Amino acid sequence: MKRIFLIGYMGAGKTTVGKILANLLGLSFIDLDYYIEGRYHRTVSQLFAEKGEDDFRMIERKMLHEVADFENVLVSTGGGTPCFFDNMEVMNEKGKTVYLKVSVEELANRLEVCKATRPVLKGRSGEELICFIAENLEKREPFYQQAAVVFEAEDMMTEQDVQHISQSLAAIL
Ligand code: S3P
Repeated sequence: MKRIFLIGYMGAGKTTVGKILANLLGLSFIDLDYYIEGRYHRTVSQLFAEKGEDDFRMIERKMLHEVADFENVLVSTGGGTPCFFDNMEVMNEKGKTVYLKVSVEELANRLEVCKATRPVLKGRSGEELICFIAENLEKREPFYQQAAVVFEAEDMMTEQDVQHISQSLAAIL
């Protein structure tokens, strides 16, 4: 029985790599954000807006505990998931955690173009976005570093890069 949790900052490639990796390893793929959205019939942005971040984090914890009991799954978590409550301990207890590590500069480049669906980044761009990511990542890094595997996922420009990263990970998991 295999259970893998992909963790890392927003824009690290958890969903993109997760889908391919799950396929390579013959595991079911679960994206925790989509799982939450399906269960609550609300987008993550709506949950943030209607209930606030504290309530979202409680929902996220509850849903994480649920999927952490599924067998033969690869779970792609939200960027904040490992950093609240006992979530990181739960993931380390229940399966193998993999941190996709990407630099602040690269994250900022990726997130500048796809931040609309991420309420945490709302209204931030340019220099302000870079500063926010740098500060936020510094706070989150101690949680991410508790992962069983830390994997550099900086180069993800092309489809070939994504395949290469997924294959390298599949070989060690
Ligand atoms: C968040 C990351 C998002 C989502 C929510 C909060 C965060 O997931 O869970 O918007 O606090 O980093 P992704 O990392 O999949 O974007």
